[in-house]
Amino acid sequence: MRLSMVYSAALLLNTGLVRGASIADPDVNGKYWIYGEGISAAFVPYGASISDLLIKDQYGIQRDIVTGFDNASYYTVDKQHPHFGGVPGRYANRIKNSTFELDGEKYHILANENPTHDNPDGLDTLHGGPDGWDWRNFTVVAYTKNSITFSIVDPDGKEGFPGEVVSFITYTLGNLTWDFKMVAIPTTKKTPIMLSSHTYWNLDGFANNQTQSALNHTFFLPYSGQRVGVDNILIPTGDILPNKLGSVNDFWSAPKQIGHSFSDPEIEGNCGFNCTGYDNCWLVNREQSGPYDWRKDGFIARLQSAWSGIQLDIFSNQEAFQMYSCNGQDGSMALKTTQGLFDNPDFPRTIPKYGCIVLEVEDWIGGINQPEWQRGSKQIFEPGGDPYVLQASYKFSINTTATPF
Ligand SMILES: *[C@@H]1O[C@H](CO)[C@@H](O)[C@H](O)[C@H]1NC(C)=O
Ligand SMILES: *[C@@H]1O[C@H](CO)[C@@H](O)[C@H](O)[C@H]1NC(C)=O
Ligand SMILES: *[C@@H]1O[C@H](CO)[C@@H](O)[C@H](O)[C@H]1NC(C)=O
Ligand SMILES: *[C@@H]1O[C@H](CO)[C@@H](O)[C@H](O)[C@H]1NC(C)=O
Ligand SMILES: *[C@@H]1O[C@H](CO)[C@@H](O)[C@H](O)[C@H]1NC(C)=O
Ligand SMILES: *[C@@H]1O[C@H](CO)[C@@H](O)[C@H](O)[C@H]1NC(C)=O
Ligand SMILES: *[C@@H]1O[C@H](CO)[C@@H](O)[C@H](O)[C@H]1NC(C)=O
Ligand SMILES: *[C@@H]1O[C@H](CO)[C@@H](O)[C@H](O)[C@H]1NC(C)=O
Repeated sequence: MRLSMVYSAALLLNTGLVRGASIADPDVNGKYWIYGEGISAAFVPYGASISDLLIKDQYGIQRDIVTGFDNASYYTVDKQHPHFGGVPGRYANRIKNSTFELDGEKYHILANENPTHDNPDGLDTLHGGPDGWDWRNFTVVAYTKNSITFSIVDPDGKEGFPGEVVSFITYTLGNLTWDFKMVAIPTTKKTPIMLSSHTYWNLDGFANNQTQSALNHTFFLPYSGQRVGVDNILIPTGDILPNKLGSVNDFWSAPKQIGHSFSDPEIEGNCGFNCTGYDNCWLVNREQSGPYDWRKDGFIARLQSAWSGIQLDIFSNQEAFQMYSCNGQDGSMALKTTQGLFDNPDFPRTIPKYGCIVLEVEDWIGGINQPEWQRGSKQIFEPGGDPYVLQASYKFSINTTATPF
């Protein structure tokens, strides 16, 4: 039997679709809550997005440490569409010139970023196009006390991509853990697939009474001595660049505050034209140290806040990692009612520039237009072949020795 058939049959059985099991209703705000030990989280069908994640800080005060909206219906209404907590798809990040070639055939995907006079829709495609996966409502196919599974069927030709893709996104909470598994299966044609979780973090729940900024969060990428080179609109050039010791993109040699290198002139333009900060894709290089079990043998990324004491360790089977320091936020997005300080004029109830950190496990961005990288087996899938499988485990703890370096 074909592997993809085994997978889809197993998924259908697991999800209860074939049993016709009924799914419990969401709460009054349209959110689906699940519960683990010391952790609870809510999800919405729009983009299969995480909307809330609650854990206690070092003082035992509950914090909501992801951005989102107060109710499920607002996700569709909001015009800015910051991709809060969703699953970008069918192909995350940017597609150069909104084109790619597969078996000698050229495909044109709908553009949606960097509009110009000659290209009013844009020069490239970001996160799967103007109606990418995180602009659509997924279907809830399974829902238990500690897990939820969303599904989407992406039709042949949608946004310009070849063939139908069926995908299942399962989120599970454990003992201070948030695990996810994203499976995608092409059913009719060969197609590129790359997914991620586009979650925005503020480990203080925006309640830090000294600073609303996340620049004091400490970040560590122990396996990431290299990154993907990009042009001034963040399209990969094909070059793999070194993150030299002590340089602005060096997060591998030691944990460092996100804002640590902001006085280094090299930070200017580091995230594209006229952009100061980070929106970069670091490679995760761990093969050279021998075989590894991604679940056990070390986190690929760590984010900490000394103020709340909350530490997030990310384990994943993915071989690249994007970090975005919310350079594009400008105080126009409201905080959720579960976040922030109240009645304090110094701390408005909005998300400031650099007020959050987006962390994205993924593969090498733009790989479909860089054949010399040889990412085909990770990014191009066909009916009857191996399915696309992204797995990650996000582990939370309290670490009061996090140094504000
Ligand atoms: C839904 O949430 C949005 C943004 O969080 C808020 O502006 C709006 O008032 C909420 N609507 C309802 C009916 O609660
Ligand atoms: C998604 O579902 C919400 C809640 O049911 C609804 O308000 C919204 O219009 C839907 N959005 C889309 C894009 O279908
Ligand atoms: C860019 O896209 C346009 C139209 O979609 C196409 O005509 C052109 O050949 C593409 N350029 C390259 C270098 O692929
Ligand atoms: C959760 O993990 C902690 C530490 O790892 C352990 O002490 C505790 O017993 C666990 N709780 C449960 C319910 O398994
Ligand atoms: C700031 O927050 C800390 C941690 O919750 C708390 O101990 C302290 O009293 C707060 N300070 C003020 C001035 O509210
Ligand atoms: C943030 O970290 C810097 C050191 O990089 C330190 O000087 C500053 O006091 C910190 N700010 C807060 C509010 O913790
Ligand atoms: C650069 O960005 C700043 C805001 O961050 C803006 O005020 C300025 O106009 C921009 N400059 C150019 C040349 O786009
Ligand atoms: C806590 O953070 C410090 C500073 O980054 C680190 O050295 C230490 O290993 C962390 N402790 C745990 C238990 O993760």
